[in-house]
Amino acid sequence: MKKIIFFLVLNLFYLFSSAQPHKPAPPMGWMSWNLFGININEQVIRGMADAMVSSGMKDAGYEYIIIDDGWQGGRDNRNNIIPDPQKFPSGMKALADYLHSKDLKLGIYSDAAPLTCANFTGSLHFEEQDAKTFAAWGIDYLKYDYCNAPQNADTAKIRYRVMADALVKSGRPIVFGACNWGFWSPWLWARDAGAQLWRSADDIADMWQKKSKEIKSEGIMDVIDKVGDLHEYAGPGYWNDPDMLVVGLYGKGGPSGMGGATGCTDTEYQTNMSLWCLMASPLITSCDLGSMNETTRKIFLNKDIIAINQDALNKPAVRKIKNDNWHVFVKTLENDEFAIGVLNSSGEENIFELPLSDLGLDGKYMMHDLWTKTITKSTKNLNLKVASHETKVFRLTRIK
Ligand code: GLA
Repeated sequence: MKKIIFFLVLNLFYLFSSAQPHKPAPPMGWMSWNLFGININEQVIRGMADAMVSSGMKDAGYEYIIIDDGWQGGRDNRNNIIPDPQKFPSGMKALADYLHSKDLKLGIYSDAAPLTCANFTGSLHFEEQDAKTFAAWGIDYLKYDYCNAPQNADTAKIRYRVMADALVKSGRPIVFGACNWGFWSPWLWARDAGAQLWRSADDIADMWQKKSKEIKSEGIMDVIDKVGDLHEYAGPGYWNDPDMLVVGLYGKGGPSGMGGATGCTDTEYQTNMSLWCLMASPLITSCDLGSMNETTRKIFLNKDIIAINQDALNKPAVRKIKNDNWHVFVKTLENDEFAIGVLNSSGEENIFELPLSDLGLDGKYMMHDLWTKTITKSTKNLNLKVASHETKVFRLTRIK
């Protein structure tokens, strides 16, 4: 009898200790902040959902449409949080129903304080009520920010936990993303506080690298520097979140233009996608899915690259080499396969030569270049010409 009670208590503990993720692979989708800021409405969101389907992105695995800050219209006379009636006149339930009818999922945003980062209504002291409301609307993902809250990890842990428990209590599986910008090393504690993913760097802007340390926003390379060695903190169902992909924004403004950002080259966007896939990061796009050019589409729809990201082992790549010119990552995949990423972070084209055994890969491998699609049947070496800011990505199959 004692044993039965013990197992019952243990099960209850697991049930309430974290919101259940939808699936153990990194979430894929689109988020409104980078391009639209607070200028969002139901037409924009529906349009993005339509484009996600018609562009082929849904078939490639992208499924979350996440509404960031700026949707809120305060609270009604029963303190229920409500959407801005001008921006979302049909209400959130209708929007979620629309997305679900397309087999997509809806995400929303709130903050662990009375006000959000853009000064809209937050969820502090209304966690259970808001979680219930989100569940009733059919929300599938919550990005939970931390502006206007005491800036220390101890309070953050408590406030995230309160919302995580409220989400579990709501009875609906809602992915819980802690937006903590990498302050106070959330990879060490956010999972225990009930989050499935935690922002591990500040807001990404549409640039390769920030021009000075004083700039708060991060470029693609700044984020890689910060998140590239956090592999041990992610796994199936829990992820470091390096923020949205900036692929395809081309300096089109919105908050992604902060910090003097004016856009990136296609090579840099390809590196953005390559590294996010190697780091087993959420793949949350942010450009206008309705007007993507061919290159953007090819980057987002590269199924071989996505497969690296969604691999069943969910193991982020390990950065094996880091120097002024090169960042080399190795990701262990299921079925004894590997992915290798070779990033040239310098300002010039360079040749990269290395025996695979120096990366811990003994023997011979068939090497599939996941961007050019060329296949090397059998090799023991890397011998590559890599353009400035380019990342070559290979899938390696051991030859018996
Ligand atoms: C913070 C977050 C961003 C975005 C804005 C919204 O800056 O880090 O990702 O959600 O708030 O106001």
